[in-house]
Amino acid sequence: MIRIAPSLLSADFARLGEEADSVRRGGADWLHYDVMDGIFVPNISFGIPVLASFRKATEMFLDVHLMIDRPVRYVEQFCDAGADMVTVHVEADTEENIAAALRAVRERGKQCGVVIKPATPAAEAEKWLEQVDMVLVMTVEPGFGGQSFMAEQLPKLRTLRAAIDRRHPGCLLEVDGGIDAHTAPLALEAGADVLVAGSAVFKKADRAAAIAALRPAI
Ligand code: DX5
Ligand code: ZN
Repeated sequence: MIRIAPSLLSADFARLGEEADSVRRGGADWLHYDVMDGIFVPNISFGIPVLASFRKATEMFLDVHLMIDRPVRYVEQFCDAGADMVTVHVEADTEENIAAALRAVRERGKQCGVVIKPATPAAEAEKWLEQVDMVLVMTVEPGFGGQSFMAEQLPKLRTLRAAIDRRHPGCLLEVDGGIDAHTAPLALEAGADVLVAGSAVFKKADRAAAIAALRPAI
């Protein structure tokens, strides 16, 4: 099953509840919540209190992408604020602390995942395969919505798809950055099963049509 996860980073922050509802009605499967700290990435978005309020406004699955330095410091708070899935960047801390962050998420009964930036090789995610519910491959440099898809990341998706099928078939493979109606088929063909899309959904007036355009033609 392919999941579409609109990224709230491109939504109208003054109307987050309505924005979430519009994509739920439009057929989205998950909501993607991008947390940025101004240190791990050169931008700041939203954090724990916004997630806690937002949790009350929707029952949708909340996929929290932490673009923050040393995420082990905050994962428990994001779980308690209502995250269903928490993903952490392998570049953001030592292996020991990444392991501790993943463990803390699981202990809270939530799903966990690792994320790799474009310059990070697939092997850095493969290390964690048995311990995660999802691997997220960035197809832009994290920090901003509206950037162009990096097609040179497609071989990495294929490598990870093969490793997942071999070692942990239940693990999801998510792709994030520059996904639109033209690039979604490339990511799906390379093995992704969760598509994050910010601008391609929230910058369109007809959310149902925007989401449908990302799904594979049957
Ligand atoms: C980028 C974020 C993405 C972003 C995607 O750092 O992780 O989730 O919102 O936006 P688009 O789909 O516009 O590239
Ligand atoms: Zn993201």
